[in-house]
Amino acid sequence: MSRNADDLAALIRARAGDAPVRFGLILGSGLGHLAGAVTGTAIDYADLPGFPHAGVSGHNPKLVVGDLEGVRVAVFGGRAHYYESGRGDAMRLPLEVLKALGAEALVLTNAAGSMRADIPPGDLMLLSDHINFSGLNPLIGEPTDARFVPMKDAHDPGLRAALQAAAKAEGLALASGVYAWYSGPSFETPAEIRAIRILGGDAVGMSTVPEVILARFLGLRVAAISTITNMAAGMSDEQISHDHTKAMAPIGAAKLERILRRFLSDTV
Ligand code: HPA
Repeated sequence: MSRNADDLAALIRARAGDAPVRFGLILGSGLGHLAGAVTGTAIDYADLPGFPHAGVSGHNPKLVVGDLEGVRVAVFGGRAHYYESGRGDAMRLPLEVLKALGAEALVLTNAAGSMRADIPPGDLMLLSDHINFSGLNPLIGEPTDARFVPMKDAHDPGLRAALQAAAKAEGLALASGVYAWYSGPSFETPAEIRAIRILGGDAVGMSTVPEVILARFLGLRVAAISTITNMAAGMSDEQISHDHTKAMAPIGAAKLERILRRFLSDTV
């Protein structure tokens, strides 16, 4: 782990307290307000040297460390995407800091387009696995043998079962499917969506996959949930846009918050 991550963890502990963080949460487009549910200390990314500027609207670039349902959590209110900088490892430092704060697991959230008629906008999808359709990798350039990260069960079966149980306990549907990472920032063409469907994707989005790879590299258990904001390109008459994503994400976010709260109180 880089020296910088240890320094930043020390800086965060000095402001938020020494108790080790148990769990991390990264919030996707339109989901940033969930950070407000945490009782704790909010630190602007701008005060954490090396943290991303998180310049995408609909994100809330703060790290909140504190208590949610009796569990010490670190909530990242925004993420850096590959398409902002051309860097696949843009979230490496925040994840290293999460590890240095003591976390052993994290849940990633995102907004995504659905390729399955039975998972419509407003629904949630737990990632059973992913396809790296971008061909990029956040570990390119990593010099150690640790870069050869096994990716079978990268989406942790235990965490997934616990999230499914939490959804069931809340009486909420939580679909399961394969997420395909498309680099963005342009949306996909209908032909690309047809191709991704044939290749086995159920939902498509512009984030999360590099963070899953980095989390496994760092030895963090990880699971991810998509809030479906639209049917993917060519699958409905609806216009796909970032404004639409931001408008739709809160519908899923309300359900997501219930699932995450139940998950934290019952199983973490
Ligand atoms: N494609 C890619 N990313 C997305 C989409 C989509 O249709 N919807 C929300 N994020």
